[in-house]
Amino acid sequence: MKRIAIIFIILAFLVPAVCLVAADTDENEYDEDLYGPEAPIIWEKPVRGVIFSHKRHTMEFGLDCDECHDEIFEMEAGAAEEYDDFNMEAMYDGKYCGACHDGDYAFAASSRCTTCHIGVRGVERLTGKSDDKNH
Ligand code: HEC
Ligand code: HEC
Ligand code: HEC
Repeated sequence: MKRIAIIFIILAFLVPAVCLVAADTDENEYDEDLYGPEAPIIWEKPVRGVIFSHKRHTMEFGLDCDECHDEIFEMEAGAAEEYDDFNMEAMYDGKYCGACHDGDYAFAASSRCTTCHIGVRGVERLTGKSDDKNH
């Protein structure tokens, strides 16, 4: 009797767990042609740890590629950070992220700093990598 009870208890936990894993795999079928690169883009210059997620902007917020490409951003990770004016001042002037993050179309670039700036720690948490130079 005891053994059957244990089997029931195990099943009661196992079945929902298997379902959760299955649901998770479905959600992970992400189409990069449709939504852009899955991995977030992270800039290091001029300050480290600023994040941009295609998945959020396209799949979740419904933006089209041509709302950003190629007028605001080139299709090349790291291109923008080579420009001297990739900074907050330019964004407050409506360039780069500031083209939309104006407090009207999307939350203002002058607010919620840490939504975009996840910092060095945030990057480490995200990538599971730590920068050896810091130790
Ligand atoms: C809200 C703005 C935005 C939208 C919408 C957007 N992108 Fe991007 N995309 C970016 C930014 C920002 C970068 C990085 C550019 C940089 O670092 O200078 C980028 C870079 C890329 C890259 C280069 C990635 C790499 O590793 O070099 C590809 C490919 C790309 N986008 C494809 C797409 C596709 C396909 C769509 C539409 C489904 C799309 N993007 C929509 C902002 C956007
Ligand atoms: C073409 C318009 C557009 C551009 C350009 C754009 N965004 Fe956004 N972004 C949006 C919209 C729309 C939302 C969702 C509405 C909101 O949160 O206010 C959003 C939301 C976000 C969020 C919140 C995501 C979340 O998880 O809630 C972050 C972070 C963000 N954007 C970062 C950036 C960064 C960094 C850039 C520049 C590299 C950028 N965005 C450029 C339109 C844009
Ligand atoms: C919509 C996204 C976004 C928001 C919100 C945002 N930033 Fe930025 N920030 C960026 C991007 C993109 C860069 C340039 C890339 C980099 O430095 O890695 C940048 C660069 C900077 C820089 C270095 C360049 C410069 O302008 O001196 C500072 C400092 C900075 N941000 C401070 C802030 C502060 C403070 C806030 C909140 C009041 C803020 N940021 C909010 C996206 C954002």
